Amino acid sequence: MTLASTVRRLSDLSRHSAKDPYVEFQWPDELEPGHDWFTTPEYLSLVGTGIWPTLSEERRKSLSFHEAANFYSLNIHGEKTLLQGLSARLYRSDMVEVSPYLHHFIDEENKHSVYFGGFCTRYAKVYRNRQFSLGVQRLPQDVEDFLFFAKTLIFEEVGDHYNWVQMRDDRLHPLARRINRSHHVEEARHLLFGRALVTDLWQHQEWSRETVRDVRDHLVQYFVSGWKQYYNPDVYADAGLTHAFDLAEEAWYSPVQRAHRKTASAKCEEFLVDARILPPESLDVC
Ligand SMILES: [Fe+2]
Ligand SMILES: [Fe+2]
Repeated sequence: MTLASTVRRLSDLSRHSAKDPYVEFQWPDELEPGHDWFTTPEYLSLVGTGIWPTLSEERRKSLSFHEAANFYSLNIHGEKTLLQGLSARLYRSDMVEVSPYLHHFIDEENKHSVYFGGFCTRYAKVYRNRQFSLGVQRLPQDVEDFLFFAKTLIFEEVGDHYNWVQMRDDRLHPLARRINRSHHVEEARHLLFGRALVTDLWQHQEWSRETVRDVRDHLVQYFVSGWKQYYNPDVYADAGLTHAFDLAEEAWYSPVQRAHRKTASAKCEEFLVDARILPPESLDVC
């Protein structure tokens, strides 16, 4: 399927299934952390650490609430960057072919932040963005474009794995399931678009060996720094746990968490390796 036909098909799907986050969600007056699951328990970031067996079910549920708010905050920060990057490329002469879909992409990402922000501001908070900024140095436009869409794809692939698991998990509070389901439905289209565009950009690049090496290094660093945000000391403190920074460090190096990251990244890694964007095992540093 060509990029143009993918753009047409995805634009039709977006037009016919447009949702309004202002009417789609019913917000309870309040939620009780510690009472319900908001994150799939096996996906909590402290599974596999020394403290995990000592936590009561209530404490684990409280952690699941704050980790959900962290996950939604990661999406808000990612979507802010995405909105800026997509808007900057809208109707640029070499992006005219994909501009019809960029309108839907922008529209849908804005709506996602409405409900992620709706949850965080009503019941928790928007956690600060701890991801360090990459790419301060000015790069050639084609390199910047590729990095922007490839990083978007990495961010969305990993997030979508969580959405996909959690929308099916009937232990979760119905609001958490709904947020994950709503996001997954539209992200599935963004991922199709992202894979088609990233493949197209990669196949048409004529970069030097050094540039290819730098691009690959940049993607691997982005992948690692993105994952680190799932281990947020602020979340542990909000769940009433002490030594939050030590916990984040221990969790990051836990073999259980390393295996979890591998599983949750498998689809993303498979795409990047199959498209020859990254050599096999490049992401094993994570
Ligand atoms: Fe989104
Ligand atoms: Fe998206």
